[in-house]
Amino acid sequence: MQPEVSHEIREVAMSSVKVLEHPLVAYHLTVLRNRETPTWEFRQTVNRLSMLLAYEATSGLPTVDWPVETPITRTVGKRLQGRIGIVPILRAGLGMVDAMLQVLPMAEVWHLGLYRDEETARPVSYYNKLPERNPVDVAFILDPMLATGGSAQAAYQALEHWGVKTIKLLSVIAVPEGIGQLQANCPQIEIHACAVDQGLNEHKFIVPGLGDAGDRIFNTLH
Ligand code: PRP
Repeated sequence: MQPEVSHEIREVAMSSVKVLEHPLVAYHLTVLRNRETPTWEFRQTVNRLSMLLAYEATSGLPTVDWPVETPITRTVGKRLQGRIGIVPILRAGLGMVDAMLQVLPMAEVWHLGLYRDEETARPVSYYNKLPERNPVDVAFILDPMLATGGSAQAAYQALEHWGVKTIKLLSVIAVPEGIGQLQANCPQIEIHACAVDQGLNEHKFIVPGLGDAGDRIFNTLH
């Protein structure tokens, strides 16, 4: 049974999330959804989709002029301005880090440990070593799944407490419930996703979804 999500909620949710509409995304996402996809291919595919998300999510980063000398002449190029933080939510967010570092090799990586309590579906924080001062200028939270939104909200609040001004979330799949939760509690967040799925089932799992991303990335299904 697919959960019902009203048109109204879906419209509001969709208005604040940037969804990657692209044949490559549609194809790779289907590989992830397929329960027959083995761990090694699932991990590779999360990596590919993360790179596509990274391309889109970094499009607004500020730049400054950077004069260089080519082998032929002088010219003025660009470099990124400010400190950039990549913030994977453990565990599943780790699967997105390498792709982000491919395109942002100068970025810092700050880990946040959060898991979702199986009974309550509320996030439980178990690792946070963010310093008290000197925040990065832009932070990219990485988590393949935005379900109830509790984990992403906790990560946002930790970064906000650190003093980060610009916070973006990269998720492979999101649902209207989680997007609505972030809209209500994290008004400054920018959400990028490969797809917005139908909704959550009675166990708070994303439908149609792709299963538990952390378990599928790290082969801990058993
Ligand atoms: C999953 C997922 C998100 C969270 C999403 O993590 O990777 O972190 O649940 O759910 P929410 O939006 O309702 O908070 P999980 O708790 O399975 O931990 P794991 O990454 O260690 O597997």
